[in-house]
Amino acid sequence: MIPLSIPQIEGNEWKYVQDCLNTGWISSAGSYVTQFEEMIAEYAGAKYGIACMNGTAGLHMAQILLGVTEDDHVIAPNITFIATLNAIKYTGAHPILIDVDAANWQMDLNLLEKYLSTKTEAKTTAEGTFRFDTTTGKRVRAIMPVHVLGNVGDMKRMLAIAIKYNLVIIEDSTEALGSTFEGKHAGTFGKIGVFSFNGNKIISTGGGGVIVTDDEELAKRAKHLTTQAKASAMDYIHDEIGYNYRLVNVLAAIGVAQMEKFPELLKKKKVMDAYYRKHLQGVGDIQFQEIPEGTDPNCWLFTFSTSRMRELLEYLNANGVQSRPFWMPMNQLEMFKEDIYVTEKDVSASVYTDSISIPSSAGITEEQLETVVETIKAFYSKD
Ligand SMILES: Cc1ncc(COP(=O)(O)O)c(C=O)c1O
Repeated sequence: MIPLSIPQIEGNEWKYVQDCLNTGWISSAGSYVTQFEEMIAEYAGAKYGIACMNGTAGLHMAQILLGVTEDDHVIAPNITFIATLNAIKYTGAHPILIDVDAANWQMDLNLLEKYLSTKTEAKTTAEGTFRFDTTTGKRVRAIMPVHVLGNVGDMKRMLAIAIKYNLVIIEDSTEALGSTFEGKHAGTFGKIGVFSFNGNKIISTGGGGVIVTDDEELAKRAKHLTTQAKASAMDYIHDEIGYNYRLVNVLAAIGVAQMEKFPELLKKKKVMDAYYRKHLQGVGDIQFQEIPEGTDPNCWLFTFSTSRMRELLEYLNANGVQSRPFWMPMNQLEMFKEDIYVTEKDVSASVYTDSISIPSSAGITEEQLETVVETIKAFYSKD
């Protein structure tokens, strides 16, 4: 079976992990954690990086840091991995789901603006002037764009909207390490960005995440809150409710080794993406995800749409090509059925029923790429 997306372990991973084991520095204190944080922040062009145990914890922490509460709404796209929404629910906040753009599958910014201009009103509180949803009366505090599949929407427009309506941006850039929009890295447009390093990401620590920000105070507080809010180096004095969200040194050691190879991995992903775009162009009714002007994506997971998605999915998996359907839209999941969903044509529903992800590991060989393409062509020509 040609796997969907597996990590590439071919650098100093063993050496650095062994170093942790030999020295006993296996837990959350350790030099690899700091090194990994610095490498990610530097690569993305952010001032600070704070490692955490996974991207979900990072997204939760980001909202706590920015003061999101159960009285708030957080805006998110309707097509995302469940973790985005779970992280919002952990804070007690209420998601507002925005349908996606039919071509690039990112949050539809026209719908976002329409919602904010017609369904919210400005009110001044002790903390400042914010927008409030006119039906629920709750404050709309944050917007969480998700760079779906490593693609990046028009972040310039997103920033302008956020400024106009006084919303903080928390970027779910979990899938987008290495992606840029107009030369700026995903994860650095908002107040906070979050990367994930789980097993299928462009680089992996097994499980892990890094929060990035340019704000020193937020960075300090993130480190404090993710380490149980311990207020004294010696004594067990804690000054608020904290979280045990830190990444451990053994995993950060893998991350350092992975980052050393990242430029190579990124190049391989682009070769893979270009191969599929060239050889699948015009096959059956395949449509590619559109890359917005100004975006240079990391080509994380190759996904396309076809009206015969279910049939193709079964065929590929039965013929040695591991493939997966896309995420069920959040508004269709039981837990979010009561939440506000902003849509006109329910584009999310068709993106879901038509989209399929195919093998995209950075280590995929040319022979495997050929096999994937030939298997897909065989499917469309068999009847
Ligand atoms: C869009 C999105 N958000 C959040 C996450 C959560 O990251 P993690 O698995 O590291 O918790 C992931 C990855 O799994 C993701 O793809």
